[in-house]
Amino acid sequence: MNLISNTVPTQPVIWPVITIDGPTASGKGTVAQRVAHALGFHYLDSGSLYRLAALAAVRQCVPLTDDKTVAEMSRQLDIRFVGEKILLAGQDVSDDIRSESAGQNASIVAALWQVREALLDRQRAFREAPGLVCDGRDMGSVIFPDAALKIFLTASVEARAERRTKQLKQKGMSAIIDDVVKELRIRDERDINRPVAPLKRLHDAQLLDTTEISADEAVASILDWYSKTPKNSVGV
Ligand code: CDP
Repeated sequence: MNLISNTVPTQPVIWPVITIDGPTASGKGTVAQRVAHALGFHYLDSGSLYRLAALAAVRQCVPLTDDKTVAEMSRQLDIRFVGEKILLAGQDVSDDIRSESAGQNASIVAALWQVREALLDRQRAFREAPGLVCDGRDMGSVIFPDAALKIFLTASVEARAERRTKQLKQKGMSAIIDDVVKELRIRDERDINRPVAPLKRLHDAQLLDTTEISADEAVASILDWYSKTPKNSVGV
């Protein structure tokens, strides 16, 4: 009996990931979705998970600083992404999680390492064929350090505040630009200075400043960089 198999062992395929990290309102979401669409890749809006964790805690009157309880709730979250809609325990919360207060609350729970750990596997599970584009703060540093392409997307505070104000108004929410600037600064400060998974530009990330360029131009740059990425380095 021949015990030696002559089939070549197959390497597990590691689907390519493009990570887009950056500060609030830099345009990450819009750009990441368009890049994903252009490549036919999946898309992960990691910030929505922190927004959902915070919303669930607020709704159950759990203090946002109660690390153990918020982490346990984060692990159990019943989330479904249905097209553009996000359902929490079957209820459409797409608009509820997009307010500025929901963003601030998200950044409070996101500073708790227990919560980040609870959401780790859920994020990595988005890496499916034929690939993934994801945006957030630690996509390239913690969640997918082996990403094929890492982008640090940013823009001036003024440009970001204008975009966020426009976005909120389009959703029918009230927004005063001076208040939005203050909120952005508070959130940037918290996201950059937290000890766990802080927002920072990695040495291996491409810097993309969108202050003076359109979302289409940003998408074109990323697609161009990606087309020049050696694909064998990501197992495909
Ligand atoms: O859309 P915007 O950039 O304003 O926020 P977001 O991406 O939805 O993230 C909301 C908050 O979640 C951020 O301010 C971060 O504190 C946190 N977050 C994080 O810590 N890590 C991520 N990968 C994504 C978001």
